Amino acid sequence: MKAVAIVPAAGRGERLGPGTPKALRALAGVPMLLRAVHALAESPAVEFVIVAAPAESVSTVRSLLLEEQLGASLSVIAGGATRQESVRLGLAALPPEAEIVLVHDAARPLVPVELVDAVVAAVRAGADAVVPALQVTDTIKAVGPAEVVAQTLDRSALRSVQTPQGFRRSVLEDAYAKAADGAQDSTDDAGLVERLGMSVQVIPGHEEAFKVTRPLDLLLADALVARRRAESGRA
Ligand code: CTP
Ligand code: MG
Repeated sequence: MKAVAIVPAAGRGERLGPGTPKALRALAGVPMLLRAVHALAESPAVEFVIVAAPAESVSTVRSLLLEEQLGASLSVIAGGATRQESVRLGLAALPPEAEIVLVHDAARPLVPVELVDAVVAAVRAGADAVVPALQVTDTIKAVGPAEVVAQTLDRSALRSVQTPQGFRRSVLEDAYAKAADGAQDSTDDAGLVERLGMSVQVIPGHEEAFKVTRPLDLLLADALVARRRAESGRA
């Protein structure tokens, strides 16, 4: 079964602070988006990568990626106003032969290729939808009005969910078609599948697949790139 990866990369990166769109910001000299696309294309299962770029940066992103030697075909499209809209536009650009769809944030540039492979393997093994996730380490409280605690959640049942998330193509297409009816918004793709009443399989995530959201995350990402370089002589 062939896998196509959609990479939503059209966000502004407001929480990272002013500057170029987040996906184009460099991590040890290499734009985050480029790192994310390489990690996906390195997986033997991934044959095609669709990047949803900021609308004003489509040609920049296209020329940036076309210079790369990638183990997958590539298409760059303009993303939308929300992450969900960017993924929807990516789905519309799927090649006909795609059977498995991965969705991976450009903001998770250091995802190990082993995690990409594991997500694809779980879909190939029969899951409709797969999310990599980690145990939560902080205690999570739900708060009500005026920041008063309403409830302390049972941490043992909580998971922090990452990408790539993997889907049987028809499942994700259905989920997005239904989401359009209700104008619902979800912070991840599996959330839309859950609303169809379908089960979503959780597999172990990876610490290095963390999302670069705030400035401190950039420090961590730089340190991780430096460690990989020291270990392998490249990164
Ligand atoms: N994304 C997208 N289109 C949007 C908004 C977000 O493709 N309209 C993408 C981002 O580029 C990112 C991923 O969705 O790769 C996860 O989003 P997030 O980490 O929130 O990134 P940003 O939206 O760029 O950051 P912020 O919310 O701080 O502005
Ligand atoms: Mg965002």
